[in-house]
Amino acid sequence: MRVLVLGATGGLGTALSRLLRGEELLLSGRRAEPLQALAAEVGGKALPVDLEDELETKALLEEAGPLDLLLHAVGQVGRAGVREIGRDLLERALSSHLLTAAFALKHARFRPGARAVFFGAYPAYVRVPGFAAYAAAKGALEAYLEAARKELRREGVHLVLVRLPAVATGLWAPLGGPPKGALAPEEAARQVLEGVFREPPPEILEL
Ligand SMILES: NC(=O)c1ccc[n+]([C@@H]2O[C@H](COP(=O)([O-])OP(=O)(O)OC[C@H]3O[C@@H](n4cnc5c(N)ncnc54)[C@H](OP(=O)(O)O)[C@@H]3O)[C@@H](O)[C@H]2O)c1
Repeated sequence: MRVLVLGATGGLGTALSRLLRGEELLLSGRRAEPLQALAAEVGGKALPVDLEDELETKALLEEAGPLDLLLHAVGQVGRAGVREIGRDLLERALSSHLLTAAFALKHARFRPGARAVFFGAYPAYVRVPGFAAYAAAKGALEAYLEAARKELRREGVHLVLVRLPAVATGLWAPLGGPPKGALAPEEAARQVLEGVFREPPPEILEL
């Protein structure tokens, strides 16, 4: 199985990559050093890219070639109330969640029956004070995927949106760390792969 993990340097992406050891693994993230170390550990190829740059993303996906599995474990979070939120946080939220997913889907090539997996959040958990930008980015991602799913189905590609509970990864670092009871990334990754390969593939997988 040819697999591309986007966000492989992140908590979830790293755990997914480790579970997929033995597959034909292509690993991408922005930070080249941890990416190289992970690639050496799991026997994959490191392809560092900023996915907000469409040309870099296009080149990455051309190099990746036709995929059986695309995992988009990419994004950033920041907290700000709607009275003080800055343009930078709004743009960062939308770029890192929506643009990276849209560019990846635009340029990816897939083998028949392939799955492309994206990560969302439970609306009730994120549509809360301080998280409007993150909630809006995740809502936009879900809407984009719902329309994209209908287009790509004609190519035999299944789009899966995984709604995650809190997972203890570096995503939480700007917020002072993960909440108590957050799922371990290894456990979240295990449940993701178990769910994504169900037949028929789920459109929305809730962990
Ligand atoms: N953790 C949770 O509680 C939770 C809950 C619900 C949904 N999610 C979603 O799950 C996904 C994975 O999150 P995580 O918890 O694993 O976060 P994480 O540990 O912070 O990892 C985020 C990953 O995104 C990559 N990234 C960010 N911007 C990028 C860009 N412009 N181009 C390329 N790579 C970029 C980072 O790369 P570098 O580090 O190399 O820059 C990193 O590999 C995200 O979409 C997140 O919103 C997470």
